[in-house]
Amino acid sequence: MFNPVTYYRLARWLYLHRIPLLPRLVEILNVLVFHCYVPYTVEIGDGFEVGYWGIGVVIHPRVKIGKNVFVAQGVTIGGRNEKPEVPRIEDNVFIAAGAKVLGDIVVGEGSVIGANAVVIRSVPPRSIAVGVPARISRGSTWWNRSIWEALKTRLCRLLVE
Ligand SMILES: CC(C)(COP(=O)(O)OP(=O)(O)OC[C@H]1O[C@@H](n2cnc3c(N)ncnc32)[C@H](O)[C@@H]1OP(=O)(O)O)[C@@H](O)C(=O)NCCC(=O)NCCS
Repeated sequence: MFNPVTYYRLARWLYLHRIPLLPRLVEILNVLVFHCYVPYTVEIGDGFEVGYWGIGVVIHPRVKIGKNVFVAQGVTIGGRNEKPEVPRIEDNVFIAAGAKVLGDIVVGEGSVIGANAVVIRSVPPRSIAVGVPARISRGSTWWNRSIWEALKTRLCRLLVE
């Protein structure tokens, strides 16, 4: 109940129902309570989760996020310099603590972004991207559903307990 995703969902619902002022107020409440900026204009699929109440999470208003995405604390998803384009995050992506995902890029389905990575190029589906600037540490050959589920479950536990 008391987590920033609930506040985001409420603000988004109010926005989509064209209720004035309230979406912005709920958005501001999210910042004041959790230090988490997830604007109601961001399109986010079902199953979105944040780690440690989303402390320090900042997401640009035009970002699009798929289903079952996990965003850890301290993550920024937004633009690069003056360029208006922002990232698109596909389904089942895990973004670890402190990562920055920037610019006109796509983070492919099932990928994992490592802690503190700075991602400025698109990440192919089912890859692990680490470092500054991020490089692909492991490509789709490592990936199968059960390994990915295990990784996500293990990391999520680590992050949310
Ligand atoms: C991305 C991650 C899942 C990769 O795990 P992994 O597949 O087990 O990776 P490995 O430990 O086998 O490392 C593979 C390579 O990537 C490097 N690497 C791994 N994570 C890295 C990171 N976050 N930043 C930079 N390099 C990293 C390793 O040094 C290794 O490099 P090498 O091949 O040159 O030796 C993991 O490192 C990570 O970042 N987890 C997030 C944990 C987190 O957010 N914790 C918060 C707790 S509150």
